[in-house]
Amino acid sequence: MENNMVECRNVTYKYENAEENTFSLALDNISIDIKKGEFIVILGRNGSGKSTLAKHINALMVPFSGKVIVDGLDTSDEKNIWNVRNKAGMVFQNPDNQLVATIVEEDVAFGPENLGVEPKEIRTRVDEALKRVGMYKYRKHAPHLLSGGQKQRVAIAGTLAMKPQCIIFDESTAMLDPSGRKEIIKTIKDLNENAKITIVLITHYMEEAIDADRIMVIDNGKIIIEGSPRKVFKEVETMKKIGLDVPQMTELAYELRKEGIDVKDDILSIDEMVNELCQLK
Ligand SMILES: Nc1ncnc2c1ncn2[C@@H]1O[C@H](COP(=O)(O)OP(=O)(O)OP(=O)(O)O)[C@@H](O)[C@H]1O
Ligand SMILES: [Mg+2]
Repeated sequence: MENNMVECRNVTYKYENAEENTFSLALDNISIDIKKGEFIVILGRNGSGKSTLAKHINALMVPFSGKVIVDGLDTSDEKNIWNVRNKAGMVFQNPDNQLVATIVEEDVAFGPENLGVEPKEIRTRVDEALKRVGMYKYRKHAPHLLSGGQKQRVAIAGTLAMKPQCIIFDESTAMLDPSGRKEIIKTIKDLNENAKITIVLITHYMEEAIDADRIMVIDNGKIIIEGSPRKVFKEVETMKKIGLDVPQMTELAYELRKEGIDVKDDILSIDEMVNELCQLK
C-alpha cells in the first residue's frame, strides 16, 4: 500500500550457529505494517528479537523467508539495498561507536559524502540537520568532548543528513542519563511531528512509549500485543508474564484496582491519575 512506510510479510529469520550446525529462531513469522508518519514503539525483553527486526527494516539483514518492503522496495532485491538504507536510517545505542570524525560538522557530512552528494548540497544538509537537533552552535566542536545526549544528537544529525523518511532508534537512550534521555526523546518527537519522519523507537523505558501512535510488543520473535499505548499497557498481567513493566501510573492503577478501589484500568499519566483519584467518593 502506498501509505505504508514498512510492510513485513511472514518474516522469519534464523541465526545460524555453524559450529554446532544449529539455528536459533529470532523472528517467527512476523507480519506488520508501519504507516508513513507513524510513531511506533517496539517493546520486548532482552533477546526477544527487537534488534533483528530493526535491522530488517533498513536492509542490514534480509529475511530467511517472507518479505520486507520499505516504501515499495523489496529489501531482498540487492539493487534496492542502498535505496532502502537511505529511506530508513538507523541510530544505535552507543553514540561513541557512531561518531567517526574529529569535528561535529565533518561527522554529520560523512554520510552524504559517501553517497556522492555535491559539496554545496552537503553544506546545506549538514547545517539543516544540526539546527534540527539543536547542535548547530557546536558544529566546530570535537564530538568526544560533548555530553552523551549531545553526542547522540550529532549521531541523529548524521542520519538526518541522508534525508531519510524513517528513522529506527535501537535503544538510543539506553546509555544516557535522565536529562540526556529527555533531550533525545524531545528531538525524536520533533522529527516525527514537525519533520514528518516515521519513527520506530526500541526502548526499555515504558514512559517513553506513552506518546506512541502504536506499540508493538515482541516476545520470542513473535508480535504478541499491538495497539495504542492505552490498549497495550492495560494488559498488565501479560506484560508482567513476559518480563516487561508498564508505566508507573498504569501499575499504580492496577494495584489500586486489586485493592478494590475503582479507578480506570488504562491510566497512563500522573494527570490522569490525579483526575481519577479526585473523583473517588
Ligand atoms: N549474531 C547472533 N548469532 C546468534 N544468535 C543471535 C545473534 N544475534 C542475536 N541472536 C539471538 O537472536 C535472538 C534475538 O536477538 P536480538 O538481538 O534481536 O534481541 P533484542 O530484543 O534486540 O535483545 P536486547 O534487548 O538484548 O537488545 C536472541 O535469542 C539472540 O540470542
Ligand atoms: Mg537489541
